[in-house]
Amino acid sequence: MVDADGLLPLATEIAREAGALARRRREEGVRIAATKSALADIVTDADREVEQLIRARLAQARPGDGFLGEESGAERGTSGVTWVVDPIDGTVNYAYGIPHYAVSIAAVTGEPTPEAWTAEAGVVYTPVVGELFHATRGGGAWLGSQRLAVSTAADAGALLATGFGYDPATHAGDLERVRRVMPLARDLRRAGAASLDLAYVAAARLDGYFERGLWPWDHAAGALLVTEAGGVVTGAPDGRPGREMTIAAGADLAARLSSAIYR
Ligand code: IPD
Repeated sequence: MVDADGLLPLATEIAREAGALARRRREEGVRIAATKSALADIVTDADREVEQLIRARLAQARPGDGFLGEESGAERGTSGVTWVVDPIDGTVNYAYGIPHYAVSIAAVTGEPTPEAWTAEAGVVYTPVVGELFHATRGGGAWLGSQRLAVSTAADAGALLATGFGYDPATHAGDLERVRRVMPLARDLRRAGAASLDLAYVAAARLDGYFERGLWPWDHAAGALLVTEAGGVVTGAPDGRPGREMTIAAGADLAARLSSAIYR
């Protein structure tokens, strides 16, 4: 039996410290340290430094836990808990000086893959705006002291968000999916940080979100926010959310998005 007590306060404290560091480094100027899978897929020195800070703090507080991070890879633990971390989600925004980026930290139990894990606690913190979204399994999703609930999409059409993977080879498919869902949409956003897209679905700032190509750290915390706000997060038909597809919305809109994408 995993001891899930204390996961959320720890994630919250570390996300705030990590967010402050990311913001400070941004103000000092950002250096792009490397490109990863494609030209658009960059990593900054700050991504690495912020992940190191999060990893060190977690190891100090809970040495038996596992870790799965965007920049520094995976390590299995012994406690049954794994931390899934994106130190700066929205790296391209961050590099360009657009303040829409977030620290995303989730604690999961079970096999540390999105197909198998159970999310226990999640935090998405956007340091420039100063908003901290948080959720625990069975405890609801919150923005500060405000309990969150997904929207029930209006007849006028849904405010949707999506993202485009960094691999140019996938863009034609991404655009085809956009074409298919537009009849459901009031409008469409591509804001550049998947964890915040999911947090915004939880907060009913968006009605729905869909994207192909997400990594586990992009959606681990945000997906828990959505389900705890009464929404659903699905993948390809009958699949769990993951690289093939992630759809997040209230149940009715999620089903309509899935039909539009996979018809
Ligand atoms: C990216 C952002 C973006 C999404 C990409 C992600 P990163 O994460 O969340 O919105 O479209 O698929 O990889 O690279 O900024 O941490």
